[in-house]
Amino acid sequence: MTSAGADPRPVMAAGCLRGEIRLPSDKSIGHRALLFNAMASGSAEVTLSRPGADVLSTLEALRLLGAVEAVEERYGSVLVTLRGAGGPGAAQLPAGGGERIECGNSGTTMRLLCGALAGRPGVSPIELLGDVSLSSRPMERVAGPLRAMGAEVVTTDGHAPLRVFGRRPLRQMHHDLPVASAQVLGAITVAALTADGTTTIDTPAETRDHTERLLAWLGAPVRREGTRTTIEGPAGMQARSLTVPGDLSSAAAWLVAATLHPDAELRLPGVSLNPTRIAVVDVLREMGADILVVSDEPAGAPSPSSPEPVGDLVVRSAANLRPISLGGLRVASLIDELPLMAVAMAAATGVSELRDAAELRVKESDRIAQVVRHLVAMGVDAEELPDGWRLTGGRRSRPVPLAVTTGGDHRIGIAFAVAALSGSSGEATIDQPACVDVSYPGFWDDLESISGPVRASAGAGAVR
Ligand code: S3P
Repeated sequence: MTSAGADPRPVMAAGCLRGEIRLPSDKSIGHRALLFNAMASGSAEVTLSRPGADVLSTLEALRLLGAVEAVEERYGSVLVTLRGAGGPGAAQLPAGGGERIECGNSGTTMRLLCGALAGRPGVSPIELLGDVSLSSRPMERVAGPLRAMGAEVVTTDGHAPLRVFGRRPLRQMHHDLPVASAQVLGAITVAALTADGTTTIDTPAETRDHTERLLAWLGAPVRREGTRTTIEGPAGMQARSLTVPGDLSSAAAWLVAATLHPDAELRLPGVSLNPTRIAVVDVLREMGADILVVSDEPAGAPSPSSPEPVGDLVVRSAANLRPISLGGLRVASLIDELPLMAVAMAAATGVSELRDAAELRVKESDRIAQVVRHLVAMGVDAEELPDGWRLTGGRRSRPVPLAVTTGGDHRIGIAFAVAALSGSSGEATIDQPACVDVSYPGFWDDLESISGPVRASAGAGAVR
């Protein structure tokens, strides 16, 4: 499912940005909606809109394991019918085939599956493999805690391929995680559904809480209080149909593009407004962005058909953005939006800074190095810090053309396409445009659909 070929893709400043975009389903919620229903008892339908390659990796893994009954395309959505192997007292994945599972580029697939398989006894281990990028990302952070609970998880020098040999019951215990990672927290949480008592997990900062919300919605005794998650094992849950809302991290591309462009108004309906993900809206507003959140429900309340709050976003151009310093606990809730935040910082007059974000170095690429390299190529005075960046933003007299080497990282491709689209850089050429499909298939079509023609008086880059 690719939305663009392998040829580099040029992006120019749009004459204006106007219209409405229905975003692809949220990547984090999509993985969990599929996986948790596959561990529950009974059957349920998960409706996904334009699922990205990462969510399709989870779907394919569950198909191999025997949890997928049907996949249908209807009215532009993908409907997945799942049948879990869980009973009333214990969550469980089916014991189908799948000795080797390809997780592609998807860290969430690999880490959450690792947790789900840790409590599923089998006759032979299951091997989890990833592409070159995923195989370079740290996996001991998930393997170590699962081993401490009694599962056999073997890494390859701390990386994928992983071999998981599940055990049941796993041991209940307390975990004090050194990194604020929702993937690691989610992996331990699903494993703890098969443990013999109460498991508690503390994280150094609050991370996205989709795991806890969805498991509780399916009836599992799981709760999040600040930075602590508690799971009373062993526990089963009941499969339940849901429609996965639009992805706020994908919406962030248009929030930044419209904020930076001088002639823009975009509407983004049906977006997930989970309070642990909404920081991007708050931070852009602190910088001076004009973003309206429209929701019928009180902030943070779940919608009737899903455990997640949903609403619409409206964003308009904003002049004179203020610089910002980001760091501390709020970084975890902005982690996927930070490359886009760098593009916004580069347009704000003055010194902006990001600290406490060393996790960016172990994402799909080293995003600190990648962001700073591209900012410097745009003519921005930017420097790498061990855990972030510092830059002096503001208007540049002549936007410089930009050759974007994504390293196959979707967030880098999208962030610097937005820089060019909004006129913050000169014309950009994105080297592997299909990499955006990991989270946002149809990104290039959406970009075309909202871009007004460049006016005669405004050449590429002359919009700002
Ligand atoms: C995700 C958690 C985040 C994020 C990733 C998706 C998830 O990673 O970067 O894109 O769905 O749990 P962390 O594990 O660093 O929180």
